[in-house]
Amino acid sequence: MLKILVCVSGGGTNLQAVIDAAAKGTVTNTQIVGVISNNQNAYALERAKQAGIPAFCVSPKAYADREEFNRAFLEKTEELQPDLIVLAGFLVVIPKEMIRKYANRIINIHPSLIPSFCGTGFYGLKVHEAALERGVKVTGATVHFVDEGTDTGPIILQKPVMVNEDDTPESLQKRVMEQAEWVILPEAIDRIANGKIRIENGKVIQKTE
Ligand code: GAR
Repeated sequence: MLKILVCVSGGGTNLQAVIDAAAKGTVTNTQIVGVISNNQNAYALERAKQAGIPAFCVSPKAYADREEFNRAFLEKTEELQPDLIVLAGFLVVIPKEMIRKYANRIINIHPSLIPSFCGTGFYGLKVHEAALERGVKVTGATVHFVDEGTDTGPIILQKPVMVNEDDTPESLQKRVMEQAEWVILPEAIDRIANGKIRIENGKVIQKTE
């Protein structure tokens, strides 16, 4: 049973997709052992509570500086003893110490086809604004392992989504979530939980039986 910690900052629709997939049985061999938000008002915390999952807020505002926050965040994480950490709309830079400690055990969902529209400053609606500004005809979402760079780790799954001419950042965000994010995040977790992927030379290899 893969023990998962999900880290969130906002609405938590990706968290919900994972909870629902586990309930339906499309994600197997997993248990969400906790949800951590940096934002006390994140609706994601409510979703966790409704699903009976222990939910915690570790807010930078409650600590004197970044170092203290990082320590508290790492401490709470260690308490939960996760096998896998899932960043589902978590808008906090993961401390380097934590990335090293959980090497190849942290994954992130990003709302574009990496390497487009990713890296520092590209998060949430900003990603879709940039995609529309550039005039791309196809966008999508990516699930990847987290390394010490921003959105640079090995890619696990990607799914394309067509851009419509009349899309707004909001309509595009909604479609990318519905058609891509809520599909590939649970699928990536299921593959990891069932030993179907490995990393070789910095790339993810899907195992085929
Ligand atoms: C999602 O679209 C996720 O891909 C994005 O934040 C949103 C969170 O929504 N993450 C990033 O932009 C990370 N760079 P949710 O709270 O409803 O799951």
